[in-house]
Amino acid sequence: MICATDRFGLTQIVFNPNVSPDAHKIATDVRPEFVLRVVGIVEARPAGQENPNLGTGDIEVLVQRAEILNESKLPPFQIAVEENVDEALRLKYRFLDLRHERLQKNILLRHRAIKFMRDYLDARGFVEIETPILIKSTPEGARDYVVPSRVKPGTFYALPQSPQQLKQLLMVAGFDRYYQVARCFRDEDLRADRQPEFTQLDLEMAFVEQDDVLSLVEGCFTELVKTVTPHKKMISPFPRLTFAEAMDLYGSDKPDLRFGMELTNVAEIAAQTNFQVFTSVLQSGGQVKGIRVPGCANYTRKQIDELTELAKAKGARGLATIALASDGIKSPIAKFLSDAQMRALIEQMRAQTGDLLLFVADKASVVASALGALRLELGRRLNLAEKDVLAFAWVIDFPLFEWNAETQRWDATHHLFTAPKPEHVALLDTDPGKVLADCYDLVCNGFELASGSIRIHRRDVQEKILEILKYSREDAFARFGHMLTAFEYGAPPHGGMAPGIDRFVALLCDETSIREVIAFPKTAAATDLMTDAPSAIAPEQLKELQIVIRE
Ligand code: AMO
Ligand code: AMP
Repeated sequence: MICATDRFGLTQIVFNPNVSPDAHKIATDVRPEFVLRVVGIVEARPAGQENPNLGTGDIEVLVQRAEILNESKLPPFQIAVEENVDEALRLKYRFLDLRHERLQKNILLRHRAIKFMRDYLDARGFVEIETPILIKSTPEGARDYVVPSRVKPGTFYALPQSPQQLKQLLMVAGFDRYYQVARCFRDEDLRADRQPEFTQLDLEMAFVEQDDVLSLVEGCFTELVKTVTPHKKMISPFPRLTFAEAMDLYGSDKPDLRFGMELTNVAEIAAQTNFQVFTSVLQSGGQVKGIRVPGCANYTRKQIDELTELAKAKGARGLATIALASDGIKSPIAKFLSDAQMRALIEQMRAQTGDLLLFVADKASVVASALGALRLELGRRLNLAEKDVLAFAWVIDFPLFEWNAETQRWDATHHLFTAPKPEHVALLDTDPGKVLADCYDLVCNGFELASGSIRIHRRDVQEKILEILKYSREDAFARFGHMLTAFEYGAPPHGGMAPGIDRFVALLCDETSIREVIAFPKTAAATDLMTDAPSAIAPEQLKELQIVIRE
């Protein structure tokens, strides 16, 4: 008896020497991962031998003829059961790794998700249009991958970081509803949710406002989840938070809304205390905020030290704690607070006996990143996120620019084609830091799934933005002349967005790394361990490209 597998699962095949002695003889040579062809009769399994855990558990195939089509060496890891194998070995033998049931399921689910997106958009009049892979460099924040030109030595194409400019040009060209399952390339620091090449559901629409784009994507994702992963629960409609609210309540622009533990601003009480750390931070324009960690009042000194280290890694100078233990309040800062202040603080934090309160005093950005990180860490430790929940939310109203202290100039928060809110255009000249953008992110369970915006469609506004970003006129024209020119020929108002398919599918598959939902992913060092790319090229190729490698 052998358990044979194909992509639809596992089937028991039976070799009976009395039915077919030849087949039975062949079966004795069969080893794991051999490829077989059998001819036989599908029969009900004898009573009592059914396997209710298997889709094919009621049947077996009684073999009449068998043939070994190919043999297999012993695989470097087991296929039938997934063991804890070093990822480098899995990636080197990805063609075997992909035989694992979990990865088969992930790749099939990815297929179904993409098929759903295509059908959904097709039914709503969207046209899938391919855009080139060899393009001119697009500034989207990451480094470009470049490709040398042979016919024009010394010049380079860039691989698209996204089809941003091309999709906008398609709007100018009159294709008022575009989408593409688009491959994007970014030479950036990689993590579990970042690959050097990844896939977006890139889309763009003409004559739309923010709400049109949001409701299209929300509709598509809601229906997709219901169809492809019906066991997942969603909050519908997706809540909308402004960027300022997200930072204030969760210390993050991609909050995990599967649980609460919001940040509370305790400045009013903190200002009255004798705790100099609090009062001096407030005097210099900073914040004092806290989170309530339920049931952790008995945390040990060591555990508190760990949390303090986490806060410090995010830039905080310390972590003030108040433990509401059953035998009284324990807090290194109690001596700086009157009883009334302590009571007021506990009340404002809505704390109960058994809770641990954590406070950080610092400038707003440090308070947000330290408490935001603690919130996530404690949410994880306390298992606060319910399983199978997809907590989607829209984050809107981002600032148009971010101040870059290093280069001492403004950077575009999203990208430089993003439109300022019409009512904020006047502020561009006077106070660029205050300008909000018609820009939106879709977040889910602590990940940024998608970004988009309403775009600039007028040359004068685009030039103004380039000027604020400190592009000289020549440089602006050299890089973006085609966009500026296109905007002069009746460019319609337009906007769109681009959900990251890898991240979305990883969430649907309960995977923490997008590598688990990509057939052939790269390592954190951007290498492909299976084919050994990147690798050196032949001297003749270099010569042709007029490239000299310096040792
Ligand atoms: P953005 O750069 O925010 O926007 O990217 C959109 C989405 O793409 C996904 N993503 C990634 N996924 C895996 N690996 C990466 N290295 C990676 N980088 C980004 C994320 C992200 O939310 N052109 C604009 C979109 C627009 O304005 O329409 C853009 O690319 O899920
Ligand atoms: P100290 O008086 O400096 O020993 O600090 C008393 C407590 O306040 C310690 O638990 C510190 O970790 C904490 N603390 C120090 N600086 C900060 C800060 N900026 N925000 C929050 N807590 C702090």
